[in-house]
Amino acid sequence: MKKTTILGTGSYLPSKVLTNHDLSQILDTNDEWIVSRTGIRERRIVAEGQTCSDLAYEASLKALEDAALTPNDLDMIIVATLTPEKRLPSTACLLQDKLQAKKAAVYDIDAACSGFVYGMSIADQYIKTGAMNRILVAGTEVMSKVLNWKDRSTCILFGDGAGSAVLGPAKTEEKIILSTHLFSNGSLYKLLEMPAGGTAMEWTPDVFERGDHLVKMDGKQVFRQAIESMAEASRLALEKFHKTIDDIDLFIPHQANSRIMDAIAKRLKCPEEKIFMNVDKYGNTSGASIPIALDEAIKQGRLKKGDLLLIATFGAGFAWGSALIRW
Ligand code: UT7
Repeated sequence: MKKTTILGTGSYLPSKVLTNHDLSQILDTNDEWIVSRTGIRERRIVAEGQTCSDLAYEASLKALEDAALTPNDLDMIIVATLTPEKRLPSTACLLQDKLQAKKAAVYDIDAACSGFVYGMSIADQYIKTGAMNRILVAGTEVMSKVLNWKDRSTCILFGDGAGSAVLGPAKTEEKIILSTHLFSNGSLYKLLEMPAGGTAMEWTPDVFERGDHLVKMDGKQVFRQAIESMAEASRLALEKFHKTIDDIDLFIPHQANSRIMDAIAKRLKCPEEKIFMNVDKYGNTSGASIPIALDEAIKQGRLKKGDLLLIATFGAGFAWGSALIRW
């Protein structure tokens, strides 16, 4: 069996910044509340006409450059998104066209905020078995288009952005995906959903009136579930390799809320300095959160050869998971 390595990463954030102060001009909220409850100070918002595949395209070009590969080297493109550009075709198809990745098989996966880790796990299986050689996994979101901007408990949390990674068979023992662990519990789906937009609920004026085509969330319940699930998934990943949190050099949790990350760290007894956080700058970018954080951590020199990286993710579904990577 082959091993999968991370050949390159890239990320892209739209240039338009929406600060907490900006939000306080349109909502009954304020910077102090948002920062103390979430750690978020600002988030990015797409420019007029900028789409989900546009963001993924920019991030993917950087990842390919980082990997010293061209789009024609790709055997597959997996796009993780809960804000697909269209219902048909997949955003992966649109990205394939922009990249002109002529040999790539493409599809989207829908695992909400956990989509990138799910995608990485899928790519890992193809590469380990030798079925595919070069796979681009992109997490890309235009959350600003699916938020209810009148719901102050939800819209303040999210932002737009994209991150990509190119995976391939390892020639050395560097940047190896040791394991991925995926979980779900669909019985709790109502706690975080977009009720309309699929085939279950017809598009009627009532749907738009109620905002059922937008993200609806029970924040308190999601908060609790996110902590429990990410802590448990992290513990299972460590146990599988007979490691403890002391062996971890860097921990990248899903960038949802600094209080959630702090609580997970406390449960795992993970020192603050080992946790990577950028939620203050970008908010929760859903499926893009992990690849953006990973790319930034790498570019900031937070990972050196031999380091053990733990990733934990959680999102709507609920779908959650973890990954261990030896850098
Ligand atoms: O990928 C996973 C995505 N989901 C998440 O990460 C969400 C997880 N949940 C959370 O992050 C938190 O539950 C929130 C940040 C959404 C809310 O924090 P909380 O500490 O659970 O606040 P709360 O819902 O209990 O609300 C406390 C108060 C309420 O007012 P009253 O009823 O006490 O008068 C809310 O109406 O805060 C009010 N509130 C706000 N006030 C100012 C809610 N949103 C805001 C706001 N600004 N933006």
